[in-house]
Amino acid sequence: MSEKKNLSKIARSFGSASESYDISARLQRYSGKNLMPWLPNRNDLTVVDLGSGTGFFTEILATRYHQVIGLDISTQMLNFAKQNRSNEIVWLEADAYKLPFADRSIDLIYSNLMIQWCEALPVLKAEIIRVLKPGGLFIFSTLVDGTLFELKSSWAQVDDDKHVIDFKTPEELESIFNSDDSKLIESSSKDLILEYENVLHLAKELKGLGANQVPKKQSRGLAGKDKWQKMMQSYQDFIEPSGIYPATYSVFSGLMVKLND
Ligand SMILES: C[S@@+](CC[C@H](N)C(=O)[O-])C[C@H]1O[C@@H](n2cnc3c(N)ncnc32)[C@H](O)[C@@H]1O
Repeated sequence: MSEKKNLSKIARSFGSASESYDISARLQRYSGKNLMPWLPNRNDLTVVDLGSGTGFFTEILATRYHQVIGLDISTQMLNFAKQNRSNEIVWLEADAYKLPFADRSIDLIYSNLMIQWCEALPVLKAEIIRVLKPGGLFIFSTLVDGTLFELKSSWAQVDDDKHVIDFKTPEELESIFNSDDSKLIESSSKDLILEYENVLHLAKELKGLGANQVPKKQSRGLAGKDKWQKMMQSYQDFIEPSGIYPATYSVFSGLMVKLND
């Protein structure tokens, strides 16, 4: 499937989640707040929230900074944000791979749980470097390898299809963000285990987060009912004594600075 088709599939997936998203955003809230201590204290900055979703963190950024832009690929997410957030924020519908900004025009890019959907991460990083001013910051969180391993391994008992996206390793991220033109000055990794009543509850939350699509999944359409039953059966291996279904999210957070050329 072409990169363009992948992007529109992701955009539709997130779009359909915009109304329910704020209700099921436990993970986003945690990881977005975790980035706050890295935010610079001066307020005269031009800031972009990359993959702004419903604008929950864009609004927090707007209380701290002079000019804040929320950018997202999903029309529906942006419509939700426009209706529910401060009207001082500028909203832009754009693809993170092709940022509608001049070279060296942005002081800070904040991005909470978006870049895991960008398969061509070095291309995205080059675009971030292009628009950041020298000394500009990229403060981000993303999901890394280990995320949803329970779900991955349960599906692996059923078929060879890819049902969960491939997440990068922390080492891969470090090598992308530490290079000639940038330095990863802070980073941290943490596993979060969220609890679910059952696998359908998990699937519903993943849908609510817009995270239910696998861009290069082999077979089309929904997995058959039988396959789902088998997968749910396998997931029971992970059930806790209390009867709760766990799902692991490995969150990587980073603070990258663009070096002077
Ligand atoms: C998991 S949500 C996180 C939203 C927000 N950062 C938050 O913390 O509430 C990811 C967002 O990234 C957006 N997104 C995914 N791929 C994108 C791309 N290539 N360019 C711009 N936005 C993208 C989705 O539409 C979605 O709103």
